[in-house]
Amino acid sequence: MKQEIPSHISELLDYARLAPSAHNAQPWKFIVDGNLVSIAVELDRVLGPGDPTGRETWLSFGICLEAALQAAEGLGLNAELVSTQTSSLQGTIAVLKITTSNKPEQPAILSALKKRHTYREKMQPAEVPQSLIAQCQQAVADLEGVNVHFMQDEASIRRVGEYTFKAMSLALSSPDFRKELYHLVHYNWSPSRTGMHGYTLGEGMIGSIFGKLSIKMGIGLPLKARHDQQRVNDASALVFIGTTGDVPSFWLQAGRAYLRVALKIADSGLAQCTLAAPVEAASFHEDIEKMLGTSDRLQSMLRIGKPAHFVRSSPRLEVEELTT
Ligand SMILES: Cc1cc2nc3c(=O)[nH]c(=O)nc-3n(C[C@H](O)[C@H](O)[C@H](O)COP(=O)(O)O)c2cc1C
Repeated sequence: MKQEIPSHISELLDYARLAPSAHNAQPWKFIVDGNLVSIAVELDRVLGPGDPTGRETWLSFGICLEAALQAAEGLGLNAELVSTQTSSLQGTIAVLKITTSNKPEQPAILSALKKRHTYREKMQPAEVPQSLIAQCQQAVADLEGVNVHFMQDEASIRRVGEYTFKAMSLALSSPDFRKELYHLVHYNWSPSRTGMHGYTLGEGMIGSIFGKLSIKMGIGLPLKARHDQQRVNDASALVFIGTTGDVPSFWLQAGRAYLRVALKIADSGLAQCTLAAPVEAASFHEDIEKMLGTSDRLQSMLRIGKPAHFVRSSPRLEVEELTT
């Protein structure tokens, strides 16, 4: 039988469920036991060939954990991180103790959690304020072993654009990668609340049919890789989350940093889009690390710039579907 969830925890989960995840897979479920909230793995929604190392899924869990913590802050609740588990992508990943408090609500945090979304269209040039860079670096300062790096010079961005083309070509050449992606890319009218609808990829009704079929049939893939390269070239800056280690405990922390940075970017009014391939595929990350002059292992890359128009967000599973 499904248990009653206290209203303040249900409200918190309503924000935590908005956490972004690779391919919008939403690989989590929430187990509520009194004032304890466990963020646990939903094996049916964990990526396979799209995430061979598990890095993207661990990052996603770090993001979800951080979304829950930020939601608690925003709702004026006390949240204590009781435990985390980083030995395997099974069972419970994090346990939070949530209690009510007299702290005031912080509507700005709640609105940033709602407002943040992925913008996959061409971005317009934008001034990236020094204050945003400082805020992002400040936001992750207490996360041990995690750093944020900004790349702004055009020549370096274009080199990352070239790596993006190579990395995307490599990823899309895998039939297993494409097969999984095919099931997570939807026609615009699909009722699915996981995965990515064509409209989030900049496609209209008809475009969403061609987009999905081209993944299935492996048609036009070099064009897709060139398209992503061009999008990177158009960025005003690339933002990287780097860590001093490269195992799941660092990936979870990198996810927490990712969301803090993503919320700062959303708050600044700039658009953002994550691209995993250049830091995930082959060893392109090593060249980018050299370009940045860091010994960190890069875990995530976001391109940022000025949004040209409004884009709809991806749907999410409801709290009732995510709780047991
Ligand atoms: C760890 C991670 C990796 C991602 N990788 C990519 C990517 O390679 N390409 C892309 O277009 N979007 C990528 N995204 C964006 C997600 O697809 C997006 O967050 C998700 O579909 C939910 O949409 P929203 O961000 O608009 O809420 C990634 C997001 C996360 C959290």
